[in-house]
Amino acid sequence: GAQKIKIPGAKPISKDLFGVFFEDLSYAADGGMYAELIQNRSFEYSASDRKNWNPLTAWEYTTEGYGYGTISVETAKPLHPNNPHYVQLNIDDAGQQGVGITNAGYDGISIIAGQKYDFSIYVRQISANPVDMQVQLRGDKGAVYGTFSFQTQAGPWKKYTGTITATANADSASLTVLARQRSVLAIDEVSLFPHNTFKNEPNGLRADLAQAVANLQPKFLRFPGGCLVHGDGINNIYRWKNTIGPVERRVQQRNIWNYHQSTGLGFYEYFRFCEDIGAKPLPVVAAGVSCQNSGGTWRIGGTGQKGIPLTEMKSYIQDVLDLIEYANGPVTSVWGSKRATAGHPKPFNLQYVGIGNEDKQTNDFRDRFKMIYDAVRAKHPEITIVGTVGPSPAGEDYDLGWKFADQLSVPVVDEHFYEKPEWFLKNNNRYDSYRRPKSKVYIGEYASWGNTLVNALSEAAFMTSLERNGDIVQMASYAPLLANLKHTSWNPNLIYFNNKTLAPTVNYYVQQLFSANQGDVYIPNAISFNQPGARADSTLAASCVQNSKTGDIILKIVNAGPHTATASANLAGLGIATTKATIEVLQGQPSDKNTIDNPKNIVPSHAEISVAQLGSYAVPPYSLSVIRISLK
Ligand code: AHR
Repeated sequence: GAQKIKIPGAKPISKDLFGVFFEDLSYAADGGMYAELIQNRSFEYSASDRKNWNPLTAWEYTTEGYGYGTISVETAKPLHPNNPHYVQLNIDDAGQQGVGITNAGYDGISIIAGQKYDFSIYVRQISANPVDMQVQLRGDKGAVYGTFSFQTQAGPWKKYTGTITATANADSASLTVLARQRSVLAIDEVSLFPHNTFKNEPNGLRADLAQAVANLQPKFLRFPGGCLVHGDGINNIYRWKNTIGPVERRVQQRNIWNYHQSTGLGFYEYFRFCEDIGAKPLPVVAAGVSCQNSGGTWRIGGTGQKGIPLTEMKSYIQDVLDLIEYANGPVTSVWGSKRATAGHPKPFNLQYVGIGNEDKQTNDFRDRFKMIYDAVRAKHPEITIVGTVGPSPAGEDYDLGWKFADQLSVPVVDEHFYEKPEWFLKNNNRYDSYRRPKSKVYIGEYASWGNTLVNALSEAAFMTSLERNGDIVQMASYAPLLANLKHTSWNPNLIYFNNKTLAPTVNYYVQQLFSANQGDVYIPNAISFNQPGARADSTLAASCVQNSKTGDIILKIVNAGPHTATASANLAGLGIATTKATIEVLQGQPSDKNTIDNPKNIVPSHAEISVAQLGSYAVPPYSLSVIRISLK
C-alpha cells in the first residue's frame, strides 16, 4: 500500500479538482467532436439559425448526364413530427448518370484512403417502381472515391445503410446520392460517419478530438454549456429530453452561438463519453430562466421573456428530477428504462447537477432557482447541487450570488474568470482566506486572454493555488474546450481543429500536466524560492501534492517571468528513499504558441532528475516543471 503522509498542515484536495467543460460553441459538437460528416443531414436548418440558412443549406441539387426534374422541400408526410422537413425529388428523366443531391459536409468532408465510412439514409418511395440508387464519395474535383448502391422499396419511410471505403485521400470531399430512374422519392436523415469513431461508439465522436479530451484525464465533464444551457429566450433553453432517443426523432434547435444544434450529440452520448473517459458527469440545467444579461433578447430570436412562467415550473422541475432518474434510476423506472433501451441498463452514477449559468441575480432567477433546488434536495439528497454566482467577480451579481448561496447553503457555486494573465498571477492567494464553512467552489470557466506560453503559465500559477486550496475548490475547468478554426466564435480555446486535424494549445499542456499529476493531499511549505535580495515575485508559484493511491509526491514549479529562479524543495519527512525522479518541462518564449501548422511547437519534454538536485533547482524562465517522485 501507499505510504500516508503525516505532515503538519497537510490538507485534503478534492478528488474531482481538474476536469473539462464542453459547450457546443465554435462548432465544438456539430461540425466538431460529433463525428457526423453530413451538414444539415435532416434538412432542418432555417433562417432562425442564421440569416440566409434554409433546409437546403450545405446541399446542392445534382443533375448530370442530361437528367432533369425538380427538387422541393416538403413537410406533408415527415419521417417524424420532430423532424418535419424532407426533400422530395421528382425526376422526369434520370439521364445517363442519375439525379440527386450533394452535401458539402462541414467545409468539405475529410476522407482517408482505405478508411471505412458508415452511410445511412431514409427514403420514402412515392412512385410505383423500385429505384436504383447510388451513393458516391467524391473528391475535391468530383472524382468518385467510393460508392454504395441500393434499391428502394415501396411503402413508408425506410432506412438503408451501407459502408463505403474511400479509395483516395481528400480534404474537401462531398457526398452525392443519385437516383438512376425516373421516379418520385422523399429523402431525409442522410448520414455519414467515419467507421472508427471514438471507442467505436455508434452515433459516436470524432476519434482524434475525443482522444485529445480523454488525454487530459479529466475528473469530470461539465456539459452541454454555458450560455447554450439557458439560451437567449425561454424557447431557446436547452431541454435534455429533446436530445435522447433515435437521432431522427430528436428535437433540433437554434444554437445561441448563431448556428444549429442537431442534438445528435445528446445527453445519452454525453453520459457515455464521460464513462468512456472516466470523468464524472456534471450536467447543467437552466435555472428556469434564459440569459438575462441583455434582457433575454441579446441575440436573434430572444423572446424577451426572462423566466419560464411560474405555472409551468412544476413540469420544468419534473424534467430535472427525471434527468436524475434517467442517469441513476433502476431500469424499471420510467426514465431509467429509456436509458436501458438506449443500450445502458447500468446507472451512470450521476453525483453532480449544475443549476444555472452566470445568471443575473434577479428575483426571476432566485425564485426559480430555489424551486428547483428545494425539489432536487428533497427527492435526491445524494446529489451535490452546483449553483452559480454571476459572470465575473467584478460584477454586482457576484456578491449577490454569494449572498444567495449563503442563504440557501448551496453546496458548491460556479465562479467564472476570463482575465488577463496578470490577474491570474495576482490572484494566487484568492482562496487562501476564503471562509471554509461556506459553499465550496467550482471554477466552471476560466482562461487568461490568449494562447501564448505566458498565458498558459499564468493559468499554471493559479492552478497551484487551486491545489493549495483543494479543500475549498472542488472543481475547476478551463473554457472553452474546442473550437473549429473556420467557425470560432470565442477566443481563446483549449484545442483548435479543422475538419482533418487538431492543434492542442500550450494551455492544453498545462491542463494536462496538472490533471495527469493531480494529488489528493496538499503538502504545505515544501518549496521555497530563493530570490537574492528580494521576495519571491508573483511570477513564481509552486505546489507539492501526494497521490495517496500511488504514494507519488508531485512538485509543480512555475516561472512566468524572464529570469532563472532557484527553488528549494524541502522533502524531509515525506519518506522519500529513491534517488531519481521524472521531470516534465514546458518552456519557451513568452509569446510562443501552437498552431494547426505547427501543433507541437511547445510541448512538454520528459527527463530524469536526481532527487538531490531538488534542494536547489534552477527554474528556467517561462517554464512549468512537473516533478514526480515515486516512493516505491
Ligand atoms: O465559454 C464561453 C461562454 O462564456 C459561456 O458560454 C458562458 O458561460 C460564458 O459567458
